[in-house]
Amino acid sequence: MKKILFVCLGNICRSPLAEAIFVHKLKEKDLSHHFKADSCGTANYHVGDKPDPRTLQNALSNGVSINHLGRQLHSNDLEEFDLVLAMDESNLQNIRRLPNASNHQHKIKLMRSYDVDQKENSVPDPYYGTEKDFQQVFEILNHSIDRLLIELTSDNR
Ligand code: 4NP
Repeated sequence: MKKILFVCLGNICRSPLAEAIFVHKLKEKDLSHHFKADSCGTANYHVGDKPDPRTLQNALSNGVSINHLGRQLHSNDLEEFDLVLAMDESNLQNIRRLPNASNHQHKIKLMRSYDVDQKENSVPDPYYGTEKDFQQVFEILNHSIDRLLIELTSDNR
C-alpha cells in the first residue's frame, strides 16, 4: 500500500481536486487496494471547509466526485506518506521547512515533475481566477496524474 499526499496552499482548490482525480483513476483501473490518497494545505485558512464551490462544480462537470474537508499539513505527514506532491514552488518550500523534512527529501516532489511534456513547474493557483482557470487546473492535474500513475505502476518506486 503506497500513500500519496497532495499539497497546495488552502486545500480547497488544487490539492483536493488532485486527490479526487487520483482516486477516480484508481477506481477506473481497479488499483484502489494498492494506494491511499489524501490532500492538505500548507496554510490553516480553510481547515474543516469543503472544497471551493468552483472546484466542486469543475470536478462534477468532468465526471469526478470530491469528498474532502480541508486540513493543514503536519510534520507527521512526512512520516506517514510515501510521496508528498506539492502543487507549486511555494508549497514545496513550505513542505521543506517542516522540522523533519531533511529525513524525507526523497519523497517531496512537485506535482508537475511528472508532467514531462511541460517545462512549467507549477499547477497555477486558480483561487483569484475564472472558470477557465479551474478547467486549466483540471487538465494539468489530469495529465500529470496519468503520468504519475504510469510511474507508480511501472516499477517499485
Ligand atoms: P488552493 O487555492 O491552494 O489551490 O486551495 C487557494 C485557496 C485559498 C486561498 C489561496 C489559494 N486563500 O488565500 O484563502
